[in-house]
Amino acid sequence: MSDALFPVPEDWAGSAKIDRETYEQKYRRSIEDPEGFWREEAQRIDWIAPFDTVKDTSFDRDDFHISWFTGGKLNICANALDRHLDTRGDQVAILWEPDDPSSPDRKLTYRELHAEVCRFANALKANGVSKGDRVTIYLPMVPEAAIAMLACARIGAVHSVVFAGFSPDALAGRIEDCQSTIVVTADEGLRGGKTIPLKANVDAACEKAHVDTVIVLEHTGANVPMVDGRDVSWADTVAGQSADCEPEVMDAEDPLFILYTSGSTGKPKGVLHTTGGYAVWTSMTHEYVFDYRPGQVYWCAADVGWVTGHSYVVYAPFMNGATQVMFEGVPNFPDHSRFWQVVDKYAVEIFYAAPTALRALMREGDEYVTQTSRKSLRLLGSVGEPINPEAWDWYHRVVGERRCPIVDTWWQTETGGAMITPLPGATDLKPGSASKPMFGVKPAVLDPEKGTVLEGATSGALVITDSWPGQMRTVYGDHQRFFDTYFSQYPGYYFTGDGCRRDEDGYYWITGRIDDVINVSGHRMGTAEVESALVEHHLVAEAAVVGMPHDIKGQGIYAYVTTNAGTEDSEELRMELVQWVRKEIGPIATPDVLQFAPGLPKTRSGKIMRRILRKIAENDMSNLGDTSTLADPGVVDDLVANRPQT
Ligand code: WT7
Repeated sequence: MSDALFPVPEDWAGSAKIDRETYEQKYRRSIEDPEGFWREEAQRIDWIAPFDTVKDTSFDRDDFHISWFTGGKLNICANALDRHLDTRGDQVAILWEPDDPSSPDRKLTYRELHAEVCRFANALKANGVSKGDRVTIYLPMVPEAAIAMLACARIGAVHSVVFAGFSPDALAGRIEDCQSTIVVTADEGLRGGKTIPLKANVDAACEKAHVDTVIVLEHTGANVPMVDGRDVSWADTVAGQSADCEPEVMDAEDPLFILYTSGSTGKPKGVLHTTGGYAVWTSMTHEYVFDYRPGQVYWCAADVGWVTGHSYVVYAPFMNGATQVMFEGVPNFPDHSRFWQVVDKYAVEIFYAAPTALRALMREGDEYVTQTSRKSLRLLGSVGEPINPEAWDWYHRVVGERRCPIVDTWWQTETGGAMITPLPGATDLKPGSASKPMFGVKPAVLDPEKGTVLEGATSGALVITDSWPGQMRTVYGDHQRFFDTYFSQYPGYYFTGDGCRRDEDGYYWITGRIDDVINVSGHRMGTAEVESALVEHHLVAEAAVVGMPHDIKGQGIYAYVTTNAGTEDSEELRMELVQWVRKEIGPIATPDVLQFAPGLPKTRSGKIMRRILRKIAENDMSNLGDTSTLADPGVVDDLVANRPQT
């Protein structure tokens, strides 16, 4: 199966913007003459003032700096909206589909979206927000999420979107880290018929973090208590605001947004993206990866709480004049046919989703898919985690009826946009391979231990050799951590944290994280974060968390917990601890397995041997390897003997 090759379909080969030959030419040019290549690609942006320098970057410790389109002035919101008003002002920009199909849907044209964004931008100013201020956005998938983000960009405020599934604690930590004193939220969110108490979560977060202003969107209409002097309703604060708001003149390297993401150690990092390079990079990749032409109906099913929702819902599609579906709900509500019903309802041509959703739908049977038409679909995308060949085959054969190419896009919060991906008119597809590098991306495979470059067909650590415009610029408030995390392990390279294989055709196969990060349903979770949540419980002495294979989620969370002496390791406590993590971080961090461990396998110097814990979690007991260096090899036997059946 994984050796199967799906050649570029004929209709695509003849009509796509990028065919095989163009890919080769453009790719070579982008590597040999980055200045020339990016100078041309940057013309897709309306610059208020031209840039002086295209690329000024170095990954070296002594001269570490990353700057693109230096001196250029622009506003990304104006690029997303204003520039379309004359040509496509009445074209629909957002087709909003509510959680419950019987609730009213909404359509916003570019003109309407522009007016709403300007009104909210003015409202932010009236609430004291100015250029450079951080604004926390904690909203469900409603048009106002995009409106709030674009409004921030319009006035030069830096948004920090926190996924609406995160707990009050996680929200408070992110508010504090970027010292944002204003939060934009809704009364409640809705997902799969269930309500999420967003305003109540914000109230709880405000007990820990200092917040002056909370803007509350009336979404479900639930009666939520408002704090006098702090809380204001969206409708009230927008009422009377002008629908004109001059876009702020931003420097190419001015911050655009912060998005928190988990790493292998410590607290989540505030990944900071800037304006000019991100605008060029996201609009370019969106155009080529999806062969996008203005007005085509496009649907990226990601939440705005993740980077995919930033780059490929809010920024790139609007810059490229898209009509896009924005969906509040989940794939299995009211039933497992929902995605495909929405595709039919809006005649979606391009559909982009995560493998985890596809696997969950696949196991419900083909009937939910085949009862819909899907004849509008032309192209399918995958993002967030490796897509296993079975899910790829199902997506291709059942959903796309063999006529739609699948673009399996590998990238990261840090990379801003797609880095390794097929292009539908240029790349023969191999199921499970993200295939070839995007223009301007020069990947390399290193020997993980020695750090030497491996040539040809090989496998090892995936690094990127040189800067690209959409690269993150810093960890908010901790530039040293930026360097240390990504550039210190393999000097001179950006280290992705992923392992990969490169085959004889030069195709890349991402094999997953090789650091202590796990990918749960396409969302990144740091094992250290789950561990620290566990040890905050008063009965827990120590915890170690690793990933385990999971049929639907890709990876699940396996937690080993040592309780305090004298504690009874009961079933009740196990359930309590699972709920505890869920409450501390959010539902996505819920451990799938929690095993009580009287002891953890440690070296004599006290380092936990995670390799062994991973093998036990994987139920691969025959490969535990050498346990003789352990302080107490007996703990391994105990863990193996008491592993819960999964
Ligand atoms: C990690 C980044 C990309 C935006 C959403 C996730 C994994 C992502 C793929 C893919 C194999 C993938 C990697 C990466 N990943 N896309 N197509 N094939 N793995 O962003 O939360 O920053 O996570 O997701 O492990 O490092 P993220």
